[in-house]
Amino acid sequence: MAADKSSPMEKSWTIFKEYHIDEDVGFALPLPLEELPHPYDAWISIARNLPELIKNNQLRVEVEKLATLSTDGLRGHKAQRLAHLVLGYITMAYVWGRGDGDIRKVLPSNIAVPYCQLSEKLGLPPILLYADCVLANWKKKDPNGPMTYENMDILFSFPGGDCGKGFFLVSLLVEIAAASAIKVIPNIFDAVQREDTDTLQKALLDISSSLREAQKAFSQIHEYVDPNLFFNVLRIYLSGWKGNPLLSEGLLYEGVWDTPKKFAGGSAAQSSIFQCFDVLLGIQHTVGGIPSDFAAEFLQEMRTYMPPAHQSFLLSLKAKPSVREFVLSKGNATLQEIYNECVEAMVSLRNYHLQIVAKYIMIPASQQSKVERSSEEASESKSKGTGGTNIMDFLKTVRGKTVNCLLKED
Ligand code: HEM
Repeated sequence: MAADKSSPMEKSWTIFKEYHIDEDVGFALPLPLEELPHPYDAWISIARNLPELIKNNQLRVEVEKLATLSTDGLRGHKAQRLAHLVLGYITMAYVWGRGDGDIRKVLPSNIAVPYCQLSEKLGLPPILLYADCVLANWKKKDPNGPMTYENMDILFSFPGGDCGKGFFLVSLLVEIAAASAIKVIPNIFDAVQREDTDTLQKALLDISSSLREAQKAFSQIHEYVDPNLFFNVLRIYLSGWKGNPLLSEGLLYEGVWDTPKKFAGGSAAQSSIFQCFDVLLGIQHTVGGIPSDFAAEFLQEMRTYMPPAHQSFLLSLKAKPSVREFVLSKGNATLQEIYNECVEAMVSLRNYHLQIVAKYIMIPASQQSKVERSSEEASESKSKGTGGTNIMDFLKTVRGKTVNCLLKED
C-alpha cells in the first residue's frame, strides 16, 4: 500500500470537515443558503419583512395564519440551518412583539411543532442562537469580493435599523479573523507529539497574531453599532426565557410540551472561538472537569447552544495532550514567553470585551434608570445579559481565570 504522504495540515482538513469547521470562515457556516423551496418560502417571506410587520402590528397575525409544515422536505444541512435561523427570528418577533412589554408566553403550534422537530434534528435548542443569527446569517454582496464589512450583509433583520447588521457582522468578522488561528491547531498537536519546539513556537506565534487580528475586527463594533439602539431595541429581540423575569416560567411550545420550557437568549457567549482557545491553551474554568463556579457553569451550559459538531470539536481538543503542560515541562524561556503571548491575547480580547459591555449595556442601563425609576423587576433584568447572567461579575471571573493562566518567571 502506498504511504500516506499528506501533510498534517492536509489530513486536518478531513478532520475539520467532520467538525463542520471551514478553512476560510472557521465555525461560521460557509456560504449560507438564502432561499427555501415552497412551502417553506412562507417562513422566509415573514422573516424578510420582520421590521415592517412588527411596525404595522401585523407580525403575530401573519404568524398565526401559517400552515403547520412538516420539516421532512428540508433536505441538507444548509437548508435546515436556514430554516432554524428563520424560525428563530419569527419566534423572537412573535414573543417580544414591538418590544414594548406586550409579550406572548405561548408559541402557537404551527410554528412550535416544526421548530422543535427541526431543532431536534440539528441537535440545537428551539430559540434564536448565535449559530443562527451570526454564523448562518450572512452573504457577500459581490461573490468575488473580499470578506469585509463593506462587501457583506445579513440575510434577516430585527427592528433597530442597521444595529443588528453591525452586531452580527462584526461578530462574524471576529470569527473569520480567528479562523486562521484554528487552522494552526493540528500543527500544535503534531509539534507537541514530536516534541518539536521550533514548530510549536511558530504555530503559537500564528495563533497570537490571529487573536490580535480578531480584536482589530472586534473594534469595528464602535463604527457600526449604536449603544442606545443595541440596548433598547436589539437586546430585547435577542432575550431568552431563562433567568428572565419577564418570562419567568419560560415559553410554552404549544403542541410539543405540556409545560413551558426555559432557554437562554442569543449571545456571543455561544461562540466556540473563545472556548476553543481556552481549551487549547489550558485556560481552565473548571476544576477536574467540574464547573467550579457560576461562570464556569454558564460557559459549560453555553456549549449546549453550539452546533453539536462544534461541541464535539471542543471535547476532542480537551482529549489531546496538554499544550500548557508541554510548555511547562520544557523549561524553555522563549517558548514560555510565546505561549504567554497567546494567553495575553485572550486576556486582551476579554478586557476589550468588558469595555464594550460597559459601553453597550452598563452605561445605557444606568442612564435609563436615572430617567425612569424603573420597577424592581425591570432593573433586575437590565443588569443581566441576554443569557440571563449577572454580566460584570461573570465576565470578570472569566477574565481572572485567563490571567491566572499566564506562566510566571521563576
Ligand atoms: C455590542 C457588543 C457586545 C455586547 C454588548 C456583548 C455582551 C455580552 C454579555 C452581556 C455577555 C455575558 C453572557 C450573556 O449574558 O449572554 C457576553 C459574553 C460573551 N461574549 Fe459578548 N458582547 C458583545 C460582542 C461580542 C463579540 C463580537 C464577541 C466575539 C465574537 C463576544 C464574545 C463573547 C464571549 C466569548 C462571551 C463569554 C464570556 C467569555 O468567554 O469571555 N461578544 N457578551
